Amino acid sequence: MPSWPLNQWYVAAYSEEIGDGLLGRTICGEPLVFYRTGEGDVVALADRCVHRRYPLSRSHLKDDQIVCGYHGFTYDKTGVCVAAPAQKRIPRTARVPAWTVREQDSLVWVWIGDQGLADTARIPRAPWLDSPDYTVVRGMEPLKARYSLLVDNLMDLSHETYLHGGYIGTPEVAETPITTEVDEDANVVYVSRHMDDAECPPFYSKSTGIEGRITRWQDVEYYAPCLYLLHSRISPAGILSPEEGPDDQAFHVEVTYGITPSTEHETLDFWMVSRDFALDDEKVTEFLATNNHTVVMQDVVALDLLEEVLESEKENYQELSINIDTGGLAARRILAKLVARGEGKTAEAKTVAAP
Ligand code: FES
Ligand SMILES: [Fe+2]
Repeated sequence: MPSWPLNQWYVAAYSEEIGDGLLGRTICGEPLVFYRTGEGDVVALADRCVHRRYPLSRSHLKDDQIVCGYHGFTYDKTGVCVAAPAQKRIPRTARVPAWTVREQDSLVWVWIGDQGLADTARIPRAPWLDSPDYTVVRGMEPLKARYSLLVDNLMDLSHETYLHGGYIGTPEVAETPITTEVDEDANVVYVSRHMDDAECPPFYSKSTGIEGRITRWQDVEYYAPCLYLLHSRISPAGILSPEEGPDDQAFHVEVTYGITPSTEHETLDFWMVSRDFALDDEKVTEFLATNNHTVVMQDVVALDLLEEVLESEKENYQELSINIDTGGLAARRILAKLVARGEGKTAEAKTVAAP
């Protein structure tokens, strides 16, 4: 049984990654090939030719069809083989499964599980990724670690103080208590930490230009299993609640992560930082891109290391959890529920009509 929930949407790619060519990516243990048709729709097929299993992602596209790079079996966007060499009649079984995909908020989502259950209304939203009111920097780092370690990592902000000290972490981040709420029906975990008078880490002082202490709010929403949002609000200390009026004296940064299991011990870590200030300032863009990449890599190194530890340890090792882990434990509980719910449903996609 896979450790990830089936019958879920996962981020497969950024829209901009799927252009003229073929993109191969393993999502939840499924090797998939993605491409864009001439009409602009994204297609996802199994990345294995039915003939001798050559990866279709290493083949080439011709008129919205993939021509296998080994012996030339040709597949249309529904996965049906429409041509084979020296063969007039194509066997009816010559087809590769097609997966349901949907583009939303500049992300390409793929439904993993029973294709008949795909419901686009259930894709969580991150509209700032595609909004003229924000400037976005983004990247993707493959982890050699199971996806649950990335969930743990993102749910606990206290590690910023230690793992990311000098970048985004300051003492207040670890010292201020958190509040955690869980929406069991929607499978969302909310974690909040509001600091009224905090040190400003370089990540924010250099990008906003604020000098001195700040009010710093961190409000996390985790839409299990796939999307993590951190609404970050920074303003000079003394400017508090936006409830009485417009929040125009504060700087807003939306930190977004697509958390996508690739294999049992590999994860695709899609990270995005969107800001609502200095929109056209290239220096700020460059600073946030470089700085956030450094922060992401600090996590990558730590999580890859943790995966090695987990793989080498005995079963039933007992962890010790404390208050800062409340959000992470809630996320684990929801994931366990979703995994159990997806159990018994095949992950194998049926051949379906492409959009
Ligand atoms: S492996 Fe694809 S055509 Fe032979
Ligand atoms: Fe981190």
